[in-house]
Amino acid sequence: NTVGIVGVPMDLGQERRGVDMGPSAIRYAGLQDRLLSLGYSVIDYGDIPVKGRSPVQIGDANLKNLQSVVEASLNVKESVMKMLKDDVFPLILGGDHSISIGTLAAINEKRQNVGVIWYDAHGDLNIPETSPSGNIHGMPLAVNLNLGHSSLTSIGAHKIKPENIVLIGARALDEGEKELIQRLGIKVFTMHEIDRMGMTAVIEQTISHLKDTDGVHLSLDLDALDPMECPGVGTPVRGGITYRESHLAMEMLAESGLITSAELVEVNPILDDRNQTAEVAVALAGSLFGDKLL
Ligand code: ARG
Ligand code: MN
Ligand code: MN
Ligand code: MN
Repeated sequence: NTVGIVGVPMDLGQERRGVDMGPSAIRYAGLQDRLLSLGYSVIDYGDIPVKGRSPVQIGDANLKNLQSVVEASLNVKESVMKMLKDDVFPLILGGDHSISIGTLAAINEKRQNVGVIWYDAHGDLNIPETSPSGNIHGMPLAVNLNLGHSSLTSIGAHKIKPENIVLIGARALDEGEKELIQRLGIKVFTMHEIDRMGMTAVIEQTISHLKDTDGVHLSLDLDALDPMECPGVGTPVRGGITYRESHLAMEMLAESGLITSAELVEVNPILDDRNQTAEVAVALAGSLFGDKLL
Protein backbone atom coordinates (compact mmCIF):
# COMPACT_ATOMS: atom_id res chain seq x y z
CA ASN A 1 0.00 0.00 0.00
CA THR A 2 2.41 2.60 -1.21
CA VAL A 3 1.49 5.79 -3.06
CA GLY A 4 4.10 7.38 -5.31
CA ILE A 5 3.79 11.11 -5.85
CA VAL A 6 5.39 12.98 -8.70
CA GLY A 7 5.01 16.66 -9.56
CA VAL A 8 4.90 18.04 -13.08
CA PRO A 9 5.45 21.82 -12.93
CA MET A 10 4.10 22.23 -16.42
CA ASP A 11 2.42 25.36 -17.80
CA LEU A 12 3.25 24.95 -21.50
CA GLY A 13 -0.14 23.51 -22.46
CA GLN A 14 -2.05 26.75 -21.91
CA GLU A 15 -1.56 30.48 -21.68
CA ARG A 16 -1.90 31.55 -18.07
CA ARG A 17 1.15 31.55 -15.85
CA GLY A 18 1.12 29.93 -12.42
CA VAL A 19 -0.15 26.39 -13.01
CA ASP A 20 3.50 25.24 -12.90
CA MET A 21 3.27 25.94 -9.14
CA GLY A 22 0.41 23.44 -8.76
CA PRO A 23 2.60 20.62 -7.38
CA SER A 24 4.01 22.89 -4.64
CA ALA A 25 0.56 24.16 -3.72
CA ILE A 26 -0.86 20.64 -3.47
CA ARG A 27 2.08 19.42 -1.40
CA TYR A 28 1.78 22.51 0.83
CA ALA A 29 -1.92 21.74 1.35
CA GLY A 30 -0.83 18.55 3.13
CA LEU A 31 -1.14 15.75 0.61
CA GLN A 32 1.55 13.54 2.10
CA ASP A 33 0.23 13.81 5.69
CA ARG A 34 -3.27 13.03 4.51
CA LEU A 35 -2.09 9.83 2.82
CA LEU A 36 0.07 8.84 5.80
CA SER A 37 -2.87 9.36 8.16
CA LEU A 38 -4.89 6.95 6.03
CA GLY A 39 -2.25 4.28 6.54
CA TYR A 40 -0.36 4.50 3.25
CA SER A 41 3.37 4.63 2.79
CA VAL A 42 4.35 7.52 0.54
CA ILE A 43 7.31 7.89 -1.77
CA ASP A 44 7.75 11.37 -3.18
CA TYR A 45 9.58 11.13 -6.51
CA GLY A 46 10.03 14.90 -6.61
CA ASP A 47 9.32 17.09 -9.62
CA ILE A 48 9.99 16.38 -13.27
CA PRO A 49 12.11 18.98 -15.07
CA VAL A 50 10.03 21.14 -17.41
CA LYS A 51 11.71 23.70 -19.62
CA GLY A 52 10.86 27.39 -19.24
CA ARG A 53 8.28 28.70 -21.64
CA SER A 54 9.20 32.14 -22.76
CA PRO A 55 8.87 33.06 -25.46
CA VAL A 56 5.78 31.03 -26.41
CA GLN A 57 6.63 28.82 -29.38
CA ILE A 58 3.90 29.41 -31.93
CA GLY A 59 4.81 26.76 -34.51
CA ASP A 60 2.83 26.30 -37.68
CA ALA A 61 0.28 23.66 -36.78
CA ASN A 62 -1.94 25.39 -34.18
CA LEU A 63 0.08 23.80 -31.37
CA LYS A 64 1.68 26.18 -28.89
CA ASN A 65 4.98 25.10 -27.30
CA LEU A 66 4.85 21.80 -29.16
CA GLN A 67 8.51 20.86 -28.86
CA SER A 68 8.72 21.67 -25.15
CA VAL A 69 5.51 19.77 -24.42
CA VAL A 70 6.89 16.75 -26.27
CA GLU A 71 10.12 16.85 -24.24
CA ALA A 72 8.31 17.23 -20.92
CA SER A 73 5.83 14.48 -21.84
CA LEU A 74 8.65 12.01 -22.49
CA ASN A 75 10.01 12.80 -19.02
CA VAL A 76 6.56 12.37 -17.47
CA LYS A 77 6.17 9.04 -19.22
CA GLU A 78 9.53 7.80 -17.98
CA SER A 79 8.84 8.84 -14.43
CA VAL A 80 5.38 7.21 -14.31
CA MET A 81 6.83 4.04 -15.83
CA LYS A 82 9.36 4.00 -13.00
CA MET A 83 6.55 4.24 -10.44
CA LEU A 84 4.67 1.39 -12.12
CA LYS A 85 7.83 -0.70 -12.10
CA ASP A 86 8.25 0.08 -8.38
CA ASP A 87 4.68 -1.17 -7.95
CA VAL A 88 3.42 1.97 -6.22
CA PHE A 89 0.10 3.71 -6.93
CA PRO A 90 1.02 6.59 -9.27
CA LEU A 91 -0.41 9.94 -8.14
CA ILE A 92 0.67 12.70 -10.51
CA LEU A 93 0.37 16.39 -9.64
CA GLY A 94 -0.03 18.98 -12.40
CA GLY A 95 0.62 21.21 -14.02
CA ASP A 96 -1.79 21.79 -16.83
CA HIS A 97 -3.75 18.90 -18.31
CA SER A 98 -1.27 18.26 -21.11
CA ILE A 99 0.63 16.13 -18.55
CA SER A 100 -1.90 13.36 -19.28
CA ILE A 101 -0.21 12.72 -22.60
CA GLY A 102 2.76 11.36 -20.66
CA THR A 103 0.90 9.74 -17.76
CA LEU A 104 -1.45 7.76 -19.99
CA ALA A 105 1.37 6.82 -22.36
CA ALA A 106 3.10 5.15 -19.40
CA ILE A 107 -0.01 3.50 -17.97
CA ASN A 108 -0.96 2.10 -21.38
CA GLU A 109 2.51 0.65 -21.70
CA LYS A 110 2.00 -1.38 -18.54
CA ARG A 111 -1.70 -2.34 -18.77
CA GLN A 112 -3.77 -3.70 -21.65
CA ASN A 113 -7.32 -2.48 -21.33
CA VAL A 114 -7.06 0.79 -19.40
CA GLY A 115 -10.16 2.69 -18.27
CA VAL A 116 -10.15 6.47 -17.91
CA ILE A 117 -12.43 8.78 -15.94
CA TRP A 118 -12.03 12.35 -17.21
CA TYR A 119 -13.48 14.53 -14.41
CA ASP A 120 -13.45 17.91 -16.14
CA ALA A 121 -15.53 20.86 -17.35
CA HIS A 122 -13.88 20.25 -20.72
CA GLY A 123 -13.44 17.29 -23.04
CA ASP A 124 -9.79 17.87 -23.88
CA LEU A 125 -10.63 16.07 -27.11
CA ASN A 126 -9.43 18.73 -29.55
CA ILE A 127 -7.03 18.11 -32.40
CA PRO A 128 -5.09 20.98 -34.01
CA GLU A 129 -7.78 21.31 -36.69
CA THR A 130 -10.60 21.74 -34.15
CA SER A 131 -8.80 23.57 -31.32
CA PRO A 132 -10.04 27.12 -30.83
CA SER A 133 -6.87 28.04 -28.92
CA GLY A 134 -3.91 25.95 -30.06
CA ASN A 135 -3.42 25.07 -26.38
CA ILE A 136 -2.27 21.50 -25.93
CA HIS A 137 -4.04 21.11 -22.56
CA GLY A 138 -7.25 20.97 -24.62
CA MET A 139 -5.95 17.93 -26.55
CA PRO A 140 -4.56 15.18 -24.26
CA LEU A 141 -7.53 12.82 -24.35
CA ALA A 142 -7.61 13.01 -28.16
CA VAL A 143 -3.88 12.26 -28.24
CA ASN A 144 -4.51 9.15 -26.17
CA LEU A 145 -7.07 8.05 -28.75
CA ASN A 146 -4.30 8.39 -31.37
CA LEU A 147 -5.74 11.62 -32.80
CA GLY A 148 -3.70 14.75 -33.42
CA HIS A 149 -0.17 15.72 -34.29
CA SER A 150 2.19 12.77 -34.73
CA SER A 151 4.83 14.28 -32.40
CA LEU A 152 2.23 13.94 -29.64
CA THR A 153 0.56 10.67 -30.60
CA SER A 154 3.95 8.97 -30.98
CA ILE A 155 4.77 9.56 -27.28
CA GLY A 156 2.65 6.53 -26.35
CA ALA A 157 2.77 3.24 -28.24
CA HIS A 158 -0.63 2.02 -27.04
CA LYS A 159 -3.95 3.83 -26.97
CA ILE A 160 -7.15 4.06 -24.94
CA LYS A 161 -10.30 2.51 -26.39
CA PRO A 162 -13.18 4.99 -26.75
CA GLU A 163 -15.50 2.58 -24.91
CA ASN A 164 -13.15 2.65 -21.90
CA ILE A 165 -13.55 6.42 -21.36
CA VAL A 166 -16.10 8.22 -19.19
CA LEU A 167 -16.33 12.02 -19.06
CA ILE A 168 -17.89 13.53 -15.93
CA GLY A 169 -18.75 17.21 -15.47
CA ALA A 170 -18.54 18.35 -19.09
CA ARG A 171 -20.09 21.75 -19.79
CA ALA A 172 -17.72 23.48 -22.21
CA LEU A 173 -17.28 21.20 -25.21
CA ASP A 174 -16.12 22.66 -28.53
CA GLU A 175 -17.95 21.72 -31.75
CA GLY A 176 -15.23 19.35 -32.94
CA GLU A 177 -15.20 17.65 -29.55
CA LYS A 178 -18.96 17.10 -29.65
CA GLU A 179 -18.67 15.52 -33.09
CA LEU A 180 -15.86 13.26 -31.97
CA ILE A 181 -17.81 12.16 -28.87
CA GLN A 182 -20.81 11.25 -31.05
CA ARG A 183 -18.73 9.53 -33.69
CA LEU A 184 -16.77 7.40 -31.22
CA GLY A 185 -19.69 6.84 -28.83
CA ILE A 186 -17.78 8.07 -25.79
CA LYS A 187 -19.76 7.94 -22.53
CA VAL A 188 -20.36 11.44 -21.17
CA PHE A 189 -22.13 12.64 -18.05
CA THR A 190 -22.54 16.38 -18.62
CA MET A 191 -23.72 18.69 -15.85
CA HIS A 192 -27.22 18.04 -17.18
CA GLU A 193 -27.02 14.35 -16.31
CA ILE A 194 -25.38 15.09 -12.95
CA ASP A 195 -28.23 17.46 -12.05
CA ARG A 196 -30.87 15.16 -13.38
CA MET A 197 -29.71 11.75 -12.14
CA GLY A 198 -27.61 12.79 -9.16
CA MET A 199 -23.97 11.94 -8.61
CA THR A 200 -24.81 8.57 -7.04
CA ALA A 201 -26.35 7.25 -10.25
CA VAL A 202 -23.63 8.85 -12.36
CA ILE A 203 -20.88 7.05 -10.47
CA GLU A 204 -22.80 3.77 -10.33
CA GLN A 205 -23.15 3.87 -14.12
CA THR A 206 -19.52 4.92 -14.52
CA ILE A 207 -18.39 1.94 -12.46
CA SER A 208 -20.54 -0.50 -14.40
CA HIS A 209 -19.33 1.00 -17.69
CA LEU A 210 -15.68 0.48 -16.68
CA LYS A 211 -15.89 -2.70 -14.62
CA ASP A 212 -14.20 -4.94 -17.20
CA THR A 213 -11.14 -2.77 -17.69
CA ASP A 214 -7.71 -3.58 -16.25
CA GLY A 215 -7.81 -0.71 -13.80
CA VAL A 216 -9.01 2.87 -14.18
CA HIS A 217 -7.00 6.09 -14.32
CA LEU A 218 -8.75 9.07 -12.72
CA SER A 219 -7.80 12.31 -14.41
CA LEU A 220 -9.13 15.00 -12.08
CA ASP A 221 -9.11 18.51 -13.52
CA LEU A 222 -10.05 20.85 -10.66
CA ASP A 223 -12.05 22.99 -13.11
CA ALA A 224 -14.67 20.21 -13.04
CA LEU A 225 -15.73 21.74 -9.74
CA ASP A 226 -17.57 25.02 -9.55
CA PRO A 227 -15.26 28.06 -9.67
CA MET A 228 -16.80 29.31 -6.42
CA GLU A 229 -15.22 26.32 -4.69
CA CYS A 230 -12.17 26.00 -6.94
CA PRO A 231 -11.24 29.49 -8.17
CA GLY A 232 -7.59 28.59 -8.73
CA VAL A 233 -7.86 27.21 -12.27
CA GLY A 234 -6.92 28.72 -15.64
CA THR A 235 -10.13 27.94 -17.54
CA PRO A 236 -13.01 28.26 -15.05
CA VAL A 237 -16.55 27.44 -16.24
CA ARG A 238 -19.61 28.39 -14.22
CA GLY A 239 -22.13 25.83 -13.07
CA GLY A 240 -19.76 23.10 -11.98
CA ILE A 241 -19.79 20.06 -9.71
CA THR A 242 -19.96 20.86 -5.99
CA TYR A 243 -17.43 19.96 -3.34
CA ARG A 244 -19.92 17.57 -1.70
CA GLU A 245 -20.82 15.84 -4.96
CA SER A 246 -17.13 15.42 -5.69
CA HIS A 247 -16.48 13.87 -2.30
CA LEU A 248 -19.33 11.45 -2.87
CA ALA A 249 -17.87 10.57 -6.27
CA MET A 250 -14.42 9.94 -4.80
CA GLU A 251 -15.84 7.88 -1.91
CA MET A 252 -17.81 5.68 -4.30
CA LEU A 253 -14.78 5.25 -6.56
CA ALA A 254 -12.72 4.28 -3.50
CA GLU A 255 -15.31 1.64 -2.55
CA SER A 256 -15.29 0.25 -6.09
CA GLY A 257 -11.59 -0.57 -5.86
CA LEU A 258 -11.29 0.20 -9.58
CA ILE A 259 -8.91 3.16 -9.47
CA THR A 260 -5.27 2.22 -10.07
CA SER A 261 -3.73 5.63 -10.80
CA ALA A 262 -4.75 9.28 -10.58
CA GLU A 263 -3.69 12.80 -11.41
CA LEU A 264 -4.70 16.17 -9.99
CA VAL A 265 -4.34 18.89 -12.60
CA GLU A 266 -4.88 22.56 -13.46
CA VAL A 267 -4.38 23.93 -9.91
CA ASN A 268 -3.14 27.49 -10.38
CA PRO A 269 -2.12 29.07 -7.04
CA ILE A 270 -1.71 32.55 -8.56
CA LEU A 271 -5.39 32.65 -9.47
CA ASP A 272 -6.44 30.95 -6.25
CA ASP A 273 -7.91 32.24 -3.01
CA ARG A 274 -5.58 31.28 -0.13
CA ASN A 275 -4.70 27.90 -1.65
CA GLN A 276 -8.33 26.79 -1.47
CA THR A 277 -8.21 24.85 -4.74
CA ALA A 278 -5.14 22.86 -3.69
CA GLU A 279 -6.86 22.16 -0.37
CA VAL A 280 -9.90 20.83 -2.22
CA ALA A 281 -7.58 18.66 -4.31
CA VAL A 282 -6.05 17.17 -1.16
CA ALA A 283 -9.44 16.66 0.49
CA LEU A 284 -10.73 14.84 -2.61
CA ALA A 285 -7.57 12.73 -2.74
CA GLY A 286 -8.31 11.78 0.88
CA SER A 287 -11.72 10.43 -0.10
CA LEU A 288 -10.30 8.72 -3.18
CA PHE A 289 -7.83 6.93 -0.92
CA GLY A 290 -10.54 5.69 1.40
CA ASP A 291 -11.07 8.35 4.05
CA LYS A 292 -14.29 7.25 5.73
CA LEU A 293 -15.19 10.21 8.02
CA LEU A 294 -16.20 7.67 10.69
N1 ARG B 1 -11.51 23.47 -25.14
C1 ARG B 1 -10.68 24.60 -24.86
C2 ARG B 1 -9.41 24.57 -25.72
O1 ARG B 1 -9.18 23.63 -26.45
C3 ARG B 1 -10.30 24.65 -23.38
C4 ARG B 1 -9.51 23.47 -22.89
C5 ARG B 1 -9.34 23.49 -21.41
N2 ARG B 1 -8.60 22.35 -20.98
C6 ARG B 1 -8.19 22.15 -19.71
N3 ARG B 1 -7.46 21.08 -19.48
N4 ARG B 1 -8.50 22.98 -18.76
O2 ARG B 1 -8.61 25.48 -25.67
MN1 MN C 1 -8.78 19.32 -18.56
MN1 MN D 1 4.73 -1.68 -25.47
MN1 MN E 1 -10.81 21.56 -17.74
